[in-house]
Amino acid sequence: MSLIKSLMGRRQFLIAAGAASSSALAYKRLAGVIDPSLNAGNAMPAERSGAAADVVTNKYPHLLSHLKVRNRILKNRIMHTPSPPHALQGPENFPADSYRAHYSQMAKNAAIVTIVEHFGQYPKTWSQSDTASGMEHYSDSIWEDIPPVHNYLQQMVEEIHCEGSLVSVGKLQSSTVEEAVKKAKQWEDRGYDVIEVGERSWSGIEAVKADLDKLEAVRKATDLIIEAVILPCTPGRSRGPSMGMGGGGMPSGRGEGMPSGAQGGQMPSGGMSVQAQAGRGSGMPAGGGIPLTSTYSDATGPEMEEVLEMVRLIDGLADILRMKDVGHCTNHPNSFVMEKDKPLTLAFAQAIKESGAKIITAPNGGFHYPELNDEWIASGKTDMVAMATPLFADPEYVRKLYEGRAEDIVPCVMCHDCHGVSRTSGPWFDVCKVNPTWGLSETKKRSIRPPTSVKKVAVIGGGPSGMKAAITAAERGHKVTLYEKGDALGGLLRHTDYTKWKWSYKDYKDYLVTQVKKAGIEVKLNTPATPEMIRQKGFDTVLVAIGADPAVSRIQGADGKNVYNIMDAYSKMKSLGKNVVIIGAGVYGTETAICLAKDGYKITIITSEKQLIPNEAIGPHNMENQLDISQNHPNISRELEAVVTGISDGKVTYRDAAGNEKSVKADSVVIYAGLKAKMDEAAEFSGSAGQVLLLGDCTGQGGTLQKTIRSAFFVASQV
Ligand SMILES: Cc1cc2nc3c(=O)[nH]c(=O)nc-3n(C[C@H](O)[C@H](O)[C@H](O)COP(=O)(O)O)c2cc1C
Ligand code: SF4
Repeated sequence: MSLIKSLMGRRQFLIAAGAASSSALAYKRLAGVIDPSLNAGNAMPAERSGAAADVVTNKYPHLLSHLKVRNRILKNRIMHTPSPPHALQGPENFPADSYRAHYSQMAKNAAIVTIVEHFGQYPKTWSQSDTASGMEHYSDSIWEDIPPVHNYLQQMVEEIHCEGSLVSVGKLQSSTVEEAVKKAKQWEDRGYDVIEVGERSWSGIEAVKADLDKLEAVRKATDLIIEAVILPCTPGRSRGPSMGMGGGGMPSGRGEGMPSGAQGGQMPSGGMSVQAQAGRGSGMPAGGGIPLTSTYSDATGPEMEEVLEMVRLIDGLADILRMKDVGHCTNHPNSFVMEKDKPLTLAFAQAIKESGAKIITAPNGGFHYPELNDEWIASGKTDMVAMATPLFADPEYVRKLYEGRAEDIVPCVMCHDCHGVSRTSGPWFDVCKVNPTWGLSETKKRSIRPPTSVKKVAVIGGGPSGMKAAITAAERGHKVTLYEKGDALGGLLRHTDYTKWKWSYKDYKDYLVTQVKKAGIEVKLNTPATPEMIRQKGFDTVLVAIGADPAVSRIQGADGKNVYNIMDAYSKMKSLGKNVVIIGAGVYGTETAICLAKDGYKITIITSEKQLIPNEAIGPHNMENQLDISQNHPNISRELEAVVTGISDGKVTYRDAAGNEKSVKADSVVIYAGLKAKMDEAAEFSGSAGQVLLLGDCTGQGGTLQKTIRSAFFVASQV
């Protein structure tokens, strides 16, 4: 259907829905909130401007090209990997509604969607102890012995199929060839398209050999696409020198950045074993480069030569090879362990392709960026890319690519909040840091009401929450002015401009800035907004998002000239001396220590806490990377349960856990005493317009980017 026809159709729909307005602009803007599928924020630029669009050429012709596999055609080169949003599924013996909705969204993007059968056996078992996780149900065994759930599963499979995607159903566990064939046929009859044959991760060539007869038999007996999974080990990581300091070389000074090595970033590390704070194993850093976790029990994957040999064995029997790094942390990489353009498994895919193997490669873990993905496929480094979180962060990923607007794709910050905020002590829910509606029930999403009129809106504060609120209000059709007292947008996220180790967060900050510009929001920089000034301008609505400031420390000497707050530690990094003491840890303090250490500074972190990052901030995977680095990086030392007594004469004095008075050399001191929400200043805006709403950190209920973004979206959706 042409765009004009579709717009006409939309207008008719709105008229039928009683939503037509005398103002064409208002009608189009209001359209977005009457039906989420017509969300103005997702509209094509031409639709927003009302102009007819030119034919859009495919800017990602390789990523979005078809691929024939056995008797099927894949609709693009994207494979969705196993990534069940655990907390969306309750103890039901069937996929819950929001769980099914999530998979439907994945199917709008990926050619293959991998479902995971988290629907426990009947009768279900669960621990009733006080310390039990509220999510224990998710690891219960397999669903298929429970006849009543099959219809729900079939429904879910159908909901994926109708988007033109294939369903991968995970691994075929069977002890004999006959059993494997029987099960595979059963799955084929149920409508699954792709199955994984073999161990979850082949630990070596012998393990592959043990599965070859099953691969061959299932291939002969069915038309299923056969997926193999290898979890390779980044070269030199698990089998490096024992002390971990050798091999690729440790950084010798400031600014060394990434060491050279395979994929331009990896270096051997070896196996110094230190128990991770999360109680989960340990690892070894790569100094100025990638922290290479080495001693997790699962960090024993095959290295390059072995992988190539394994591929030689299965080539022709398996169709698709999915790979992610074997490391417990590095298989959920973030900006501290991976360079943006060097996902850890790309080198394996490339070597496999260069070996002449026919198997379709689908490397996984950090393959987020469309331009890079397209380039890697174009240059023959891989056939496909496999991904999970980019599609959570933006379920419109592929649609935006077809519309040629990759810059509108919400970048995933690789934080793994979606993996569960906490698995142990709770809270037991999944959220996305950058997608405020992800994981919510359809009922909750439908509770967002359309605006009743176009309003004049002021947003106070140009941090992430202010920007998100301004964008949301503008997408709802309001006329928005954004006031920022500083000379740039970004708020606390501006620290990412000064370090290369938080590139995913910088990308998100830059995305928000771009969207503010594209949404037609009037931005007033260097303009501190006062309640009186706002009152005089006659806004209908004021959204106050003035955030939080680093708290001021009362430690003696904290006002010295070599003492910096956490934000200044980034923006004035060049003026820091070589030996830096960071007082106060937490997520922010620890990540600052890592950024500085990776750039060559010698860091001592002193905290009064028992551990650097509190338990409640350690969800699955993400923080484990940071803990690994903070405990093992040669440039970082830690003093836990210590009390700082003063800062003076190039040193910090403190009482250690045993009560001993000590001091440590400090050319510079960075203090992180937490963030102080600007609640009082925010409350002063009360009465400056008919509707004044507070959001983000300044409400006192923020504290994380996820909370402020969700708050910004829902508060602005009330306007
Ligand atoms: C919510 C969630 C659940 C996941 N669960 C699994 C799992 O059960 N099995 C698995 O092999 N990988 C699991 N993963 C890992 C993903 O499949 C993927 O390898 C990882 O997120 C890195 O890829 P990405 O950078 O594209 O997200 C999960 C990821 C997420 C976000
Ligand atoms: S931003 Fe964080 S929570 Fe959202 S998809 Fe990415 S990793 Fe998951």
